[in-house]
Amino acid sequence: MPESGPGPMLELDRVVSGYGDGVALHGASLRVAEGEVLGLLGRNGVGKTTLLKTVMGLLRARAGTIRFAGRPIAGLRPFEIARLGVGYVPQGREIFADFTVLENLRLGNLDSDDFSVAFDAFPVLQQRRDSLAGSFSGGQQQQLAIARALMGNPRLLLLDEPSEGIQPSIVAEIADVLRRTAAEQGVAMVLVEQNVDMALALCQRCAFIEGGVIAEEHPVEALRADPAILDRYLAF
Ligand SMILES: Nc1ncnc2c1ncn2[C@@H]1O[C@H](COP(=O)(O)OP(=O)(O)OP(=O)(O)O)[C@@H](O)[C@H]1O
Ligand SMILES: [Mg+2]
Repeated sequence: MPESGPGPMLELDRVVSGYGDGVALHGASLRVAEGEVLGLLGRNGVGKTTLLKTVMGLLRARAGTIRFAGRPIAGLRPFEIARLGVGYVPQGREIFADFTVLENLRLGNLDSDDFSVAFDAFPVLQQRRDSLAGSFSGGQQQQLAIARALMGNPRLLLLDEPSEGIQPSIVAEIADVLRRTAAEQGVAMVLVEQNVDMALALCQRCAFIEGGVIAEEHPVEALRADPAILDRYLAF
């Protein structure tokens, strides 16, 4: 008998997208289950950011289908996709340096003045709620970017290299928050990471992208048992 569990939270089927006349995503397919954390790993320039931006509607899918919780979302605007329950933490964070913490958080959900989800995740944001975000360290800015995404009560979080350029103690705090958010709230995640230890610690499965397509997918246990797979897609 076929398994009758819930359908995937996110499903990409042969998605093509790119910039101008150039194609960067050449038919990428993947699935993420409810509450699952999927690692998306690959070398520089292979299309990781492009894939996340295409899901978020920041780039147009030129072919293929994208479904969120069973609903086709390709062609919707980014704010519509966010409203459906997709949170995005962009590479490089993209917080507003001249805005306070509270002003940045409000941009994550214009309909809510309840910041408890952000403050519960990262208490430092409550302590420094009126500080300008530009006065923060890189790690604190990353925490703010994640908290801003959590403000929208997402069912799916897209995270683009959240540990990039951040001190280890804050990376550990961020990993802890992501682990709890997935386990306790069933939030699904696509985690782009160069930090392999963080990816293996958080993910149940990793997808390897090369040349704009998903080349292989493996459960984390298989990657621990056979590190040659990681080398194939990450070593230079
Ligand atoms: N704004 C842009 N305009 C034109 N080409 C772009 C643009 N952004 C990315 N590209 C190209 O698209 C391809 C995929 O880039 P993408 O940023 O998705 O890679 P990535 O896997 O996220 O890399 P990184 O690990 O460096 O973040 C690359 O060849 C890149 O040069
Ligand atoms: Mg990138």
